[in-house]
Amino acid sequence: MTDQTRFLLNEKDIPTTWYNIQADLPEPMPPVLNPGTQQPIGPEDLAPLFPMGLIEQEVSTQREIDIPGEVIDIYRLWRPTPLHRARRLEKALDTPARIYYNYEGGSPSGSHKTNTSVPQAYYNKVEGVKRITTETGAGQWGSALAMACNFFGIDCKVFMVRVSFDQKPYRKAMMEMFGAEVFPSPSPETAAGRAILEKDPDTTGSLGIAISEAVELAAQDPDCRYALGSVLNHVLMHQTVIGQELIEKFKLADDWPDIVIGCAGGGSNLAGFAFPLIGRKLRGEEKGARIIAVEPAACPTMTKGPHAYDFGDVAQMTPLVKMHTLGSGFVPPGIHAGGLRYHGMGPLISHLVELGEIEAVAIHQLEIFEAATRFARSEGIVPAPEPAHALAITIREALRCKEEGQSRAILCNLCGHGHFDMQAYIDYFAGKLHDYEYPEEEIAMALAGLPSVGSE
Ligand SMILES: Cc1ncc(COP(=O)(O)O)c(C=O)c1O
Repeated sequence: MTDQTRFLLNEKDIPTTWYNIQADLPEPMPPVLNPGTQQPIGPEDLAPLFPMGLIEQEVSTQREIDIPGEVIDIYRLWRPTPLHRARRLEKALDTPARIYYNYEGGSPSGSHKTNTSVPQAYYNKVEGVKRITTETGAGQWGSALAMACNFFGIDCKVFMVRVSFDQKPYRKAMMEMFGAEVFPSPSPETAAGRAILEKDPDTTGSLGIAISEAVELAAQDPDCRYALGSVLNHVLMHQTVIGQELIEKFKLADDWPDIVIGCAGGGSNLAGFAFPLIGRKLRGEEKGARIIAVEPAACPTMTKGPHAYDFGDVAQMTPLVKMHTLGSGFVPPGIHAGGLRYHGMGPLISHLVELGEIEAVAIHQLEIFEAATRFARSEGIVPAPEPAHALAITIREALRCKEEGQSRAILCNLCGHGHFDMQAYIDYFAGKLHDYEYPEEEIAMALAGLPSVGSE
């Protein structure tokens, strides 16, 4: 172990392949189904929404997939990212734990989302796509895609969940700076949006609603495709540049994590960070760390939702995927962690939770803002509310080490900064935030609408 605080790689250490965990799964993924026939879908069913290059990645079971040179050249703008030892936080907590955090907030748009927005825009460009639609919750994904589309000369339309649109005007400005058009969702632009506005004009919106709007536009226009910032296999795979770099950075630290903690909205930062480590365990190369996925108690997908077939969006336009879900009609309370307000979870994350490789924990928002403040006062970085969920559990685990007199290495993914989330902090310091009770009745209602599938 060294006495260093930051562990840095060189540009030449940027990974040249993505890691596909599907190659190492002890049980294959349940198939994605056509909602009409309930039969597994084929690549052609996804072709109206995604370019073939990404569809091939979605279903691939090849372990390593080459990263195109043009994508690596853009990754050089912010990769490799640094690993920090949080020595000042350790001291403030008076813990024997060794706390590490991996920082993805130094990317141009402020989070890990550029790791996938760039390859997604690239594969669309290669296949001649002119326009891309998407949803955004926190605004981090919308900004990342707007930037990537701008780099590749593709038009970008972003449906931004209403509550985030109101909370984060500067995220909208950033997307517009990159040339994207931004609509508050639900919007009058689409049939799905109009139907929801008619029923509930004051809705806070949800990622499931915004996805319906973005998918609807893409499906109608042959020159347009849809891009998703999380959940799908190829998105999770693009993020594995994080975990591959992490393995090299831990060698520099001459240490190895016992506990690995990430927040999970659709699962992409957690996957990117943890899948290369889980892969080593699945291949029998190491004993493996405890991997913890942290979600908000207001949207407890993994801790309260069944592992069942469901739609990815409210208007039920997507295929059926097997995942932890609270029901596609569930509209989570308007918490400030907009990126964690999704009714479902990435099917790969869900599968690994079912296999016992990932533990899930839900946490209330006051504890996460307290943890974020504690972290900022020690380490100087203002975290986004989403990774503040992971920081809160990191602090809990570090305090447990203190109670038990154990020195464990705890690794947290600080996947984005909170510079555009200051309204959340203003509200927190003004005492205006409260914890939402588990919305049991609303979830029960939404779960009652789950599609019934074959032998389930
Ligand atoms: C900073 C940040 N962290 C986490 C998330 C959650 O997404 P995922 O679980 O795919 O990492 C988001 C989503 O928008 C985000 O913006």
